[in-house]
Amino acid sequence: MKYSKTDQKDLIDQTRQFQKMDVISDQMRYADLVALLHFHEWRYYVKDDPILADAEYDALFKLLENAETSHPEWIISSSPTQRVGSDLTSDFPTVTHMSPMLSLPNSYNAEDLLDFDKQIKKLTLEEGDIEYVVEPKFDGGTIVLIYENDQLVRGATRGNGAAGDDITPNIKTIKSVPLTAKFSDHGLTKVEVRGEAIIRKDRFVKMNKAREISGDVLFANPRNTATGGLRTKDPTETVKRQIDAFIYQIAAADGPGKESIKNHAATIQLLDEIGFKVPVDESKVCLNIQEVIDFCAHWQEKRESYAYEIDGMVVKVSDFELQRRAGETSHHPRWAMAYKFKAKQATTTLEDVVYQVGKIGTITPVAKVDPVALAGVTVSSISLHNEDFINQKDLYLGDTILIERAGDVIPYVVKSFPELRTGNETKILFPKTCPINPNPADYVKLLRDENEAAWRCPTCVCGAQDLQRMIFFVSKDAMNVDGMGKSIVEKFHELHWLKDISDIYNLDYDQIETLEGFGEKSAEKIKRAVNKSKSNPLYRLLYGLSIHHFGKRASKILAAEIEHILDLRDWSVEKLTELKDIGPVVAENIVEWFSMEKNIELLERLESRGVNVRQTDADRPKDFSSGPLAGKTILFTGKLTKIGRKEAQQIAEQLGAKNLSAVSKNLDILVAGEKAGSKLKKAQSLGTVQILSEDEFIALQ
Ligand code: IVH
Repeated sequence: MKYSKTDQKDLIDQTRQFQKMDVISDQMRYADLVALLHFHEWRYYVKDDPILADAEYDALFKLLENAETSHPEWIISSSPTQRVGSDLTSDFPTVTHMSPMLSLPNSYNAEDLLDFDKQIKKLTLEEGDIEYVVEPKFDGGTIVLIYENDQLVRGATRGNGAAGDDITPNIKTIKSVPLTAKFSDHGLTKVEVRGEAIIRKDRFVKMNKAREISGDVLFANPRNTATGGLRTKDPTETVKRQIDAFIYQIAAADGPGKESIKNHAATIQLLDEIGFKVPVDESKVCLNIQEVIDFCAHWQEKRESYAYEIDGMVVKVSDFELQRRAGETSHHPRWAMAYKFKAKQATTTLEDVVYQVGKIGTITPVAKVDPVALAGVTVSSISLHNEDFINQKDLYLGDTILIERAGDVIPYVVKSFPELRTGNETKILFPKTCPINPNPADYVKLLRDENEAAWRCPTCVCGAQDLQRMIFFVSKDAMNVDGMGKSIVEKFHELHWLKDISDIYNLDYDQIETLEGFGEKSAEKIKRAVNKSKSNPLYRLLYGLSIHHFGKRASKILAAEIEHILDLRDWSVEKLTELKDIGPVVAENIVEWFSMEKNIELLERLESRGVNVRQTDADRPKDFSSGPLAGKTILFTGKLTKIGRKEAQQIAEQLGAKNLSAVSKNLDILVAGEKAGSKLKKAQSLGTVQILSEDEFIALQ
C-alpha cells in the first residue's frame, strides 16, 4: 500500500480543511495540496475506490490552479496541473531503453505449460516445484518509463525493443502514472519500469457512444484507441481517451537497493507501495505448474467479465536468481511465457453468399452475415474460400454459424449448427457459370483443375477478369500508377473507357476533366501518374500482366535475363525452369501466355503507347564492383528534402553501394538529412562512419 491507514486518515482530515479554503496562503500549503491531490488521484485511478465525489475533486483542483495562477513561481513539475502537457511535439525523438525489451514466447494449452515447466527445471537445475507469478496479458500498448531521483523523467513506447518513441508529454497525462514515486525509499536512484497503457472496456463503450452522438468517427477497439492516444501529437487528445496504465516489471535499476529485490512478487509489491497501478488482485503466486494451469483456465472463463481487454496470461518465474539461470535468447526470455486465450468467437446468421471473380478467373464465395461485433470489429462479410469449404463446413443459407477472429487475423467460419435448422434453410448452389456475367446468352462453363480447390472461368467474356487485372496492374506492387486507385479503374471500366490494361495509356484526359467529381486537377494528376509509369522497370510490367502464380520475385529474376519483353515468345519451359524461383507450373503458364496472339498484340499496343518493354538499369543484376560507392555500405537517416528515401536508396545501389538498415561497425557512410537523431549520434560516436549531407550525397552522382 502506498499510504498507511494513518496516512490516509490524516489526508482525509486535511482534505476537509482544504475544502474550507478559498485561497492558498503560502508555498508550504501549496505543496501540501499537491500531495493531497496525488492521494486522491491514487484512490481514484490506481485503486478504483475514490473518496471524493468528482465535483469535490474538481473544486480542490481549481484551488490549486488559482494558486498557480497567482504564484507561478510555486509550480512544481509533479503538480497535477502539469499532467496536461502544453508541450506540443510535432514528431517523436527516438530514445534508447535502459534495457532492451524482448518478446514473449506463446503457449496455447496445458501441455505447452507443462513443457515450459520441464524446460525451466532443466535450465535452472532445480528439481523441486518452481514458483511462478501469473498475471493478465494486457492488450494495450507497451510503455517504458524512467524515474530518476523519484521523478518521472521519460516515457516511451516499446518501439523495436531496443529503442522507442519518446512520448513523455502524452505519458504525463495518464493519471495512473505517478509523476513522482518514492523509489528512493528502496535505495533506487534511477529505474526503468514497463507496463501497458490500456482503456477500460466500459469507458471505451461510453466514449464511442458520445462520439456517435457528436457525429465523430467511432474508435475501432480499446487497444487501438489506447495506442493511438499514446502517439497523438496533441497530449490533450491523450487525456480524452481516459487511458490507464498497469505497470508489471522493473526492467532496469541503479542504486544500492537494487540487490535487495529478490523476486517478481516483491517487485509488484514494491511498485504497489509507491503508488503504481499493478496487477495485484488479478495475479497469483503459484507454487507449482498445476496451479498455473488452473489459474490460466480460471481466467479464460473470467476474461469477458474483466474490466480490461486481455488476450492471455503471462507466466513468470518469480525468483530472479532462477530467472538468471534460465537466461534468454536474442528474442525472448526463457523464464517467461505468454499463455494465449482461445480466439474470440461469435455466432451469427449466414444470410447470403456472393461470388467474386479474381484476375485470373478464380471464383471466391463470400458469406454475407448478420453484422456482429467480434474482437473489436464489426464483421459482415467472410470469405468462404471455395466450394469444398462450403461442403466441409456443411453450410446452408439461413444457418446459424460460429465465426472466429483471433487478433488481427481475418474472420473465419468455424462451423455451422445443423441441429438448429428449422427447415427454412436452403442449400448453397455454387454457380456453374460466371456469376458476374449479366448475359445468359454467352455463359461460359466454369472449370476446376484436378489439383486446385478453386473453380475458374476459363475465358472471360464479360470483362470481370479484365477489370480485376487492371485494378492489379495499377496497384502499388505492380505498375504503381498512384492517383489511379480501384474506384477510378472501376468507374472508367463502367464507362467502357478501359477494356484492357493498354487502354490505361489511351485515356482522353479532356473527357476525364468533364466527369462529375473530377476536374482539371485530378485529370492532370492521373495523367502524370500514368505517364510516370510508362518508364517503369520491366519487372513491374511483367508482374502486372497477372500471369497465374507468377510472383514479383520471379518477375525480377526473369526481367534480369531478357532485353525485350517479346523475347519471351522464344523461351521454353525448360529454359525458364533453369532460373531460380521459376518452377514448372509457372513456366508453363508463362509459355502459354506468350503463345497467345491476343497477348502479343496487347504488348505491342502497350509499346506503341509508350510503355517501356525493355530491360532497364533497375532490372539488371546489381553489380557492386563498379561505381563511385563500389563495395561501400550506406544508410540514410533523418528527413531528405530533395529526393525521396526510396529514390536515394536506388541511386546508392546504382552507385555500387549496399543499403543497410542500422548503424553498426559495418557501416561505411551515413547520409544525414534534417533532424537526424540517434542514428547520427551513434555513427558519430563510432568514429569510423563517413557522414554526408543530402547535398553531398547528390553531388556523388
Ligand atoms: S512481461 C520480456 N507482463 O506483452 C518482456 N508483458 O511481448 C516482458 N504485456 O507488448 C514482458 N501484459 O507490453 C509482461 N503482465 C505482463 C504483460 C505484458 C501485457 C505485453 C507487453 C508486450 C508483450 C510482451
